[in-house]
Amino acid sequence: MKEKIEKLLQEAAEIHAEKMEQLEELRIKFMGRKGILQEMFQDFKNVPAEQKREVGVLLNQLKDKLQERLESLKQSLESEELPSDKTNDLTIPVRFDELGSRHPLSIVRSQICDIFSRIGYTVAEGPEIEDDWHLFSALNFAPDHPARDMQDTFFIETAPDILLRTHTSSVQIRMMEHTKPPIRMIFPGRVYRNEVISARAHCQFHQVEGLYIDKKVSFADLKQSLLYFTKEMFGSETKIRLRPSYFPFTEPSAEMDISCNICGGVGCNICKGSGWVEILGCGMVDPNVLSNCGIDPDEYSGFAFGMGIERIAMLKYQTNDIRLYFENDVRFLREFEAAL
Ligand code: DAH
Repeated sequence: MKEKIEKLLQEAAEIHAEKMEQLEELRIKFMGRKGILQEMFQDFKNVPAEQKREVGVLLNQLKDKLQERLESLKQSLESEELPSDKTNDLTIPVRFDELGSRHPLSIVRSQICDIFSRIGYTVAEGPEIEDDWHLFSALNFAPDHPARDMQDTFFIETAPDILLRTHTSSVQIRMMEHTKPPIRMIFPGRVYRNEVISARAHCQFHQVEGLYIDKKVSFADLKQSLLYFTKEMFGSETKIRLRPSYFPFTEPSAEMDISCNICGGVGCNICKGSGWVEILGCGMVDPNVLSNCGIDPDEYSGFAFGMGIERIAMLKYQTNDIRLYFENDVRFLREFEAAL
């Protein structure tokens, strides 16, 4: 009996099967109700009492070994069989994998880029981690400007000069430092602000910055370019109005409203009854900013503008909670499948 078990133990280690059916045959042969193992357990009754302990241990070893071997063969056949069967059979119809959809912010960003590229703007990007010079100082922010406050800006504790950019205006500086005018560019990108997250505000969002520098660029050029953008983005009926405002890096500065695309200007809760909604800030690049970047303000002038992509998306798709754009709930994202 001992010898028989030892021989079977060796055999168990060498069991091999090419196909599932073969494996099943082996299982029945060794472990089936009338199989070899069962037979051995029957014979065990006849083993003399003084050998029972030793033979019993061996018999259990054999059982474990067989189980283990058959299981591992099963697993490797399962993992091999499906793909090899499928790749070998070229007549099996192709399974069309479900496609995802583009994120609404990506859709709106590329629409904005397309609209401006049609009037000669090129697209560039800058770093999200910035230094004080590019984010504030070169943009003419006074040393005590509130935007430099920790309450608005994320600073990196160990390096006070390094910050997460709060706006894409920093990319204007990077471009002007390295490019000779004429410059006609837009800069899309992510920005960060130390804000409490709510339906209307988030600690991260996206902006597109625009910059146009050349000889004799005027405020009329700015207005015309933004009117063109608005009509392309929100429809040809849409009107714009510019309200005087203040930004350290533009002079004069303005904020631009568009006629409310939801009520058509009559007044609704989105435009708070005014018929107008604000979509961007803009202005003529301050001569100090040009000088900071090595561009002669007596020779060149230009305009800049900056808009929030979420804001444009919320107006375009009539969504009223900015958090939807960051939660990535597929039920929300699937609504944009048609816009692919
Ligand atoms: N950087 C401003 C902001 O984040 C937006 C802005 C306003 C950009 C006026 C400009 C501009 O280029 O001219 O609120």
